[in-house]
Amino acid sequence: MRSPTTSGPIIIVGAGGFGREVLDIVEAINVSGGDIDFLGFVDDGDVDEGLLHRRSSKLLGPSSIVVHLAAKYVIGIGSGEIRRRLATEFDSLGAEAAILVHPAATIGGDSHLSPGCIVAAGARVTTNIRLGRHTQLHVNSTVGHDSTLSDFVSVYPGATVSGNVTLAHGVTIGTGANVLPGRSVGASSMVGAGAVVTRDVEPDSTVVGSPARCL
Ligand SMILES: CC(C)(COP(=O)(O)OP(=O)(O)OC[C@H]1O[C@@H](n2cnc3c(N)ncnc32)[C@H](O)[C@@H]1OP(=O)(O)O)[C@@H](O)C(=O)NCCC(=O)NCCS
Repeated sequence: MRSPTTSGPIIIVGAGGFGREVLDIVEAINVSGGDIDFLGFVDDGDVDEGLLHRRSSKLLGPSSIVVHLAAKYVIGIGSGEIRRRLATEFDSLGAEAAILVHPAATIGGDSHLSPGCIVAAGARVTTNIRLGRHTQLHVNSTVGHDSTLSDFVSVYPGATVSGNVTLAHGVTIGTGANVLPGRSVGASSMVGAGAVVTRDVEPDSTVVGSPARCL
């Protein structure tokens, strides 16, 4: 499919480790012929500005300035709950979220990405997949056919979401975890790193191990 990546002025909310990984995505998109004008980071916490300087970027200010900037935003923060809180505030004030897809990721046919989605290098999205608002696919994660990932879902590096899977609002799939075909993970649940989800997971649960069981 044609890349859904946004062009024009963009800011990244969150100047921590994942925020700077998102800058990698922006830079890779531009090297591949994209046209993103990266203005800088916003962050409400302590920021190592030296790290930003080394990336020829800067801190623009706290998140309250997002709505005053003539730019779309993406949230480079791994926590779905923090993304939900920030995006709810920004969107209520009329800010517009961008979509970023690394050129070394693939998006299959008949798949749909919602505003705020970030797809990192090596991630694979096959066919008939829905990614909700501010959902993130981190490096080398995969999502199989006919799966639905709701809003504020995070799929961490190397995790595998099989076909026909449903991940509800705010789910996190830890690094290297596997969700078997057709399973559902309930809202706000956390699948621990390396877990194998063989049965549906209830909302607000944390599961670990193979087969995955509640902590
Ligand atoms: C599952 C998880 C959320 C639990 O975190 P937590 O609530 O702080 O749990 P703790 O570290 O206190 O561990 C509690 C117990 O669960 C075990 N445990 C924790 N994570 C585990 C995992 N992924 N698989 C198996 N066991 C795990 C611990 O060994 C500990 O066992 P013990 O009580 O017998 O000593 C976390 O360990 C995890 O896997 N997070 C995913 C992180 C990730 O993928 N980050 C990627 C960022 S890019």
